Amino acid sequence: MKILVTGTAGQVARALAARGATHPDIQIVAVGRPDLDLEDLSTFAPVLRSVGPDLVINAAAHTGVDQQEDEPDRAFRMNAEAPAELARLTRSAGIPIVQISTDYVFDGTSTHPYVESDAPNPQTVYGRSKLAGEEAVRAGNPDHLVVRTAWVVSPYGRNFVKTMLSLAQTRDTLQVVSDQFGNPTEAHDIADGLLCAAMARRRDRSFRQGTYHLAGQGKASWYELAQHVLATSAELGGPTAAVAPISSDMWQAKAARPANSQLNSGAFESDFHYRTGRWRERAADVVQALLKDSVHVAS
Ligand SMILES: NC(=O)c1ccc[n+]([C@@H]2O[C@H](COP(=O)([O-])OP(=O)(O)OC[C@H]3O[C@@H](n4cnc5c(N)ncnc54)[C@H](OP(=O)(O)O)[C@@H]3O)[C@@H](O)[C@H]2O)c1
Repeated sequence: MKILVTGTAGQVARALAARGATHPDIQIVAVGRPDLDLEDLSTFAPVLRSVGPDLVINAAAHTGVDQQEDEPDRAFRMNAEAPAELARLTRSAGIPIVQISTDYVFDGTSTHPYVESDAPNPQTVYGRSKLAGEEAVRAGNPDHLVVRTAWVVSPYGRNFVKTMLSLAQTRDTLQVVSDQFGNPTEAHDIADGLLCAAMARRRDRSFRQGTYHLAGQGKASWYELAQHVLATSAELGGPTAAVAPISSDMWQAKAARPANSQLNSGAFESDFHYRTGRWRERAADVVQALLKDSVHVAS
């Protein structure tokens, strides 16, 4: 099965490429800028023609949550118009599309982990543009999956674990928000889940349900995640620092983050027989991988 993945350097794109390299039945072809540019829709058709995939996973996006508050047009171009065009093209080609989305489509006021039937209510340009991308894919290609994930960490790209390890090299104490909760999710777990879904699609000839949640097991605050990352690093002889809890109103960011955006991944688990790892173990794996190559921690 040949899968076209959009983006090359992103966390999920790299994890998919890594998993695909060892999967006997799957070939991942990751294509990013300039050949496939979310800001230039005319680049999509030639890539689809030359790769000839059985499935497209749209892992590329504008992910700068704060930056997007200043550039909503660009956010909607990349996160909504680009998926719309990919959905149109995949439908014409008679192939399915998987659109990756986010916990930020929710407002974070729920008292339970969000299920797929909960009403979205995004509070940021990022969340609104990603929700528009979901809707565009649902409308554009009936043979689709929308997979919402959250708090992605990995040895790749930019993410919270890398930021904590990097800051710990120069600071004694890190102030970290303790009143926002979610599910830290290792990018390889997302890749494994998506590949399970892809194999199921090949067997069953259609996706059974359009929208799923796929996030790490267990609830964390950013503060708990930071503490765990730096304690693990200390155990392994890496950089460490004290962590001081602060409330979200002490952290000035352009885009408001959801207070509680935990996702319930039960439907994905029962339909595709795949469960992500527990966040503590998977975050520790990321720390270990990064410390093996200290160049990554510094970058
Ligand atoms: N990161 C999170 O915490 C998080 C949480 C929830 C949902 N998600 C969603 O999960 C998906 C994957 O996120 P991620 O963490 O892997 O993102 P990431 O590490 O920030 O990578 C973003 C990807 O988008 C690509 N990209 C950006 N601008 C592009 C353009 N103009 N044309 C083509 N590609 C472009 C990047 O390309 P290059 O390869 O050229 O850099 C990169 O591959 C996204 O849909 C995101 O919204 C992420």
